[in-house]
Amino acid sequence: MYDGAVSEEISMEDAVNRVRTGIPGFDELCGGGLIRDRTYLISGTSGAGKTNFSIQFIYNGITKYGENGIIVATEERPEQIRENVMKFGWDLEALEEENKLVIIDACSTKIGIPSQEKYVDVRPFDIRSMMDQIIATQEEINARRALIDSTTSVSFYLQDPAKIRIELLKLSTTLEVIGLTSMMTCELVEEDNPSRFGVENFVTDGTIVLYYKRHENVRMRSMEIYKMRGSDHSKKIHPYDITPEGFVIHPHEEVYSMF
Ligand SMILES: Nc1ncnc2c1ncn2[C@@H]1O[C@H](COP(=O)(O)OP(=O)(O)OP(=O)(O)O)[C@@H](O)[C@H]1O
Ligand SMILES: [Mg+2]
Repeated sequence: MYDGAVSEEISMEDAVNRVRTGIPGFDELCGGGLIRDRTYLISGTSGAGKTNFSIQFIYNGITKYGENGIIVATEERPEQIRENVMKFGWDLEALEEENKLVIIDACSTKIGIPSQEKYVDVRPFDIRSMMDQIIATQEEINARRALIDSTTSVSFYLQDPAKIRIELLKLSTTLEVIGLTSMMTCELVEEDNPSRFGVENFVTDGTIVLYYKRHENVRMRSMEIYKMRGSDHSKKIHPYDITPEGFVIHPHEEVYSMF
């Protein structure tokens, strides 16, 4: 019986083009990993785990696969991010000191407070300026992975879904062209739609939805690869845990009729 995992038989060419997230249980759900130089939307309601999931992708990239990374932090100050993920043993500051990671503070200016960070996005609602900063940073540290956490504040600023779509398309295409495999997070208020404004998932090559649903007196975590252009992938909803070591997805378990 099909258990959610995708065929293990990957061609050599395909294996080279796959970018392993290294997140336990994830890569086998999509033929060995993400397709290189593509952009993926990580959607979920508040607290679903979007930030942790995508930082694990960046952290593993640097520490396991030698691929440097860029994080654009729009919702949390870099200081908070460093502190939060230290709980999983991920020492981002050490990677920054080694020039393997850059965190761009796109949060402080937005809310009007001074930033002590080395990398600050002074025009956080301007996608063009964000792109320029990513391009410069990518050249500086030879980054191969990027994370924009999140797209939602820029989308709120733009408001018009047509504008959101074109601006995010420009951003995702630029990231791809300069050779970054990227994740963009997207906040959901309801889980029936894979994106907040109904357009974000159309401009990315893949969409991963993280669910955090209440069942009786407990909340259950599960995830789904909603789409992945150019790749076979599991069509099932798989449970996951956030453990002291980070995300662990259970690819051979399913979420049954509990919801
Ligand atoms: N050390 C830890 N061990 C286990 N679970 C943790 C730990 N740290 C955080 N969590 C869980 O992760 C959740 C937050 O995850 P994360 O910040 O990635 O969510 P998010 O989807 O980005 O949320 P938001 O929409 O607020 O940005 C917490 O609410 C908590 O349940
Ligand atoms: Mg978050």
